[in-house]
Amino acid sequence: MSTEKPLKVAVTGAAGQIGYSLLFRLASGALTGDRPVELRLLEIEPALKTLEGVVMELDDCAFPGLAGIEIGSEAETIFDGVNLALLVGARPRGPGMERGDLLEANGAIFTAQGKALNSVAADDVRIGVTGNPANTNALIALKNAPDIPAERFSALTRLDHNRAISQLAAKTGAPVTDITKMTIWGNHSATQYPDLFRAEVGGRNAAEVVGDQEWLENTFIPTVAKRGAAIIEARGSSSAASAASATIDAARDWLYGSAAGDWVSMAVVSDGSYGVPEGLVSSFPVTTRDGDWTIVEGLEIDDFSRGRIDASTAELADERDAVTQLGLI
Ligand code: NAD
Ligand code: LMR
Repeated sequence: MSTEKPLKVAVTGAAGQIGYSLLFRLASGALTGDRPVELRLLEIEPALKTLEGVVMELDDCAFPGLAGIEIGSEAETIFDGVNLALLVGARPRGPGMERGDLLEANGAIFTAQGKALNSVAADDVRIGVTGNPANTNALIALKNAPDIPAERFSALTRLDHNRAISQLAAKTGAPVTDITKMTIWGNHSATQYPDLFRAEVGGRNAAEVVGDQEWLENTFIPTVAKRGAAIIEARGSSSAASAASATIDAARDWLYGSAAGDWVSMAVVSDGSYGVPEGLVSSFPVTTRDGDWTIVEGLEIDDFSRGRIDASTAELADERDAVTQLGLI
């Protein structure tokens, strides 16, 4: 085990479903490899007892890289000095609910947590938002943390990215490792646009390899975009292990770098690239290195893709208007 200082990682909603998968992966080194981690776990008061049970299980794993665990319900205490904050805690969508229904219920959580991070997080903090509606929650958090650069916030669209890779691999028979340059554009919602026109299968254009616009439009896009709802329907509760896995994939690439010659999807604050209104937290193709991300520039956007990107970013603009009206930003 390395002698490096532990990475202090905060996880909110730590007693929830995603937390139950995420914490054990973090503690076992899935994010940091040999570098130890210190876990700072935030929950609401009524869930602390459950969280104590989870901590007992973490102890029982005797993970060599787990340098310490602190739990609590005060954000300013738990976020003190954290290098990475994974904001998972929020009320998940139940059957029949749309993400919009969650804006008000969950918005308040992210104002308070944004403020707390602003006051006490480490100077190098990175903040990944998994809790839904993830893009707009990230926007709320960053607006409430004026001293933390907006580039330090991102929302999770890596699960959608991974889902898109998996669907394309199944369709083409290629291994997932052959699929590169996948992009999710826009919102982590049913309007998201998983883009095969810029993706590649074994170095060849994915849309051409598939050669089936009907499948692309009527099977691939809706399967990826509505996968969250399909899992809720099948499992009776929202995706958890896959969401935890994607949360780790996203944080690992952000901190340690994306693969050479490839890119990943992250929802980050728009600088106006690709016509996405400046200031929205929208998913883009990005390369990452040492905790920084850069939007991949210069991609040609065809008319079909333009319409899909615009539809998803229009939804994000509506969400921004709604939370502005609610006084959350
Ligand atoms: P869950 O209900 O099992 O757990 C959520 C936990 O958050 C609960 O333990 C709850 O007590 C806690 N919580 C609520 N308010 C809190 C607060 N203010 N501070 C700290 N903790 C708080 O839900 P889950 O299945 O773990 O999902 C968590 C979130 O992740 C949901 O919003 C869900 O929709 C979202 N999600 C996002 C993605 C994605 O790809 N972005 C994928 C799956 C789920
Ligand atoms: C998912 O994509 O699995 C989650 O965001 C759950 C949801 O509400 O769709």
